[in-house]
Amino acid sequence: MSITLDFVDKTVLVIGGTSGINRGIASLFAEHGARVAVASRSQEKVDDTVASLKNLGAQSMGFTVDVRDAEAVKKGVMEVHENYGELDVVVSGAAGNFVATAMGMSANGFRAVVDIDLMGTFHVMQAVYPCLKKPGASVINISAPQAFIPMEAQSHVCAAKAGVDMLTRTLAMEWGPEGIRVNSIVPGPIENTEGMKRLAPSAEILEQVKESVPLKRLGSTEDIGNACLFLGSPMGDYINGAVIPVDGGWSQNGTGVMRSALSDFAQGTVK
Ligand code: COA
Ligand code: NAP
Repeated sequence: MSITLDFVDKTVLVIGGTSGINRGIASLFAEHGARVAVASRSQEKVDDTVASLKNLGAQSMGFTVDVRDAEAVKKGVMEVHENYGELDVVVSGAAGNFVATAMGMSANGFRAVVDIDLMGTFHVMQAVYPCLKKPGASVINISAPQAFIPMEAQSHVCAAKAGVDMLTRTLAMEWGPEGIRVNSIVPGPIENTEGMKRLAPSAEILEQVKESVPLKRLGSTEDIGNACLFLGSPMGDYINGAVIPVDGGWSQNGTGVMRSALSDFAQGTVK
């Protein structure tokens, strides 16, 4: 079998693809020849991302959507399908996070994150299914270490992302017979992202997090994009239902530094 990371004539949709890790993933697919569609809530962010993907030489389009709105997600995905045909790769990565203990947030706060991360992923999965290339499509859900490592001040994210990974594993079974692969990628601490800004709000905490990674560095958006390229390519053809940490080994030690830092932060010891 000849193996290639060439995505010419392939369509990639990245939900939540207008900043941080997901935008990095979208850019890497564009650099490898794909047609790339992105979606998020902000028209400004969508326009800016589409322009930058076009600058990379890719055909690109975008739509605004809140993933909590199932019908709006369906409508947007259908527009991409009508313009670009079957979807070869879907990356679902819209998410929300804030630092608060379970007793420090309202039920609505907990629900907001579950609605965006878990229900949002479900809405995306239902919307893309009729448009996926069968056989051949690769669906990638962006998870987080909180899915399997309990972290103080992250009960909402832990619950939501654990749900995302079980959705991944279940859909891998339901859709596998049609030749659709569904996997999760679990990024470690990724530099220059909104997620890390929220979880490591001082230079000191960020340094501690970096030191706690066995590879002694924070990850880059390209590290995550590379894993997505692999999963989206024929090299990933037999990977289905996997939850894959791309984290420099961070989750091996239980992300201990982050846990205690967040606990201090949530209790107001660190400003
Ligand atoms: N501590 C406790 N509760 C908080 C909070 C915090 N730091 N930030 C938000 N909340 C609560 C709000 O008080 C509200 O609950 P209430 O109605 O009972 O007061 C609830 O969460 C929803 O907040 P709201 O601002 O209305 O939600 P939203 O839908 O506009 O935004 C968030 C969702 C809160 C997740 C917002 O941070 C977001 O949009 N994040 C996207 C970007 C992001 O988080 N990136 C990192 C990804 S890892
Ligand atoms: P980010 O820059 O905030 O990216 C989140 C993206 O999702 C943005 O494009 C945002 O755009 C969109 N989005 C948020 N809420 C949405 C909603 N309700 N509907 C539609 N789109 C929405 O965050 P990031 O740090 O790069 O994180 C990206 C992904 O990686 C997330 O799934 C996160 O859980 C995961 N992750 C991150 C890290 C890290 O170190 N940063 C570690 C582990 C996992 P709009 O604001 O325009 O909607």
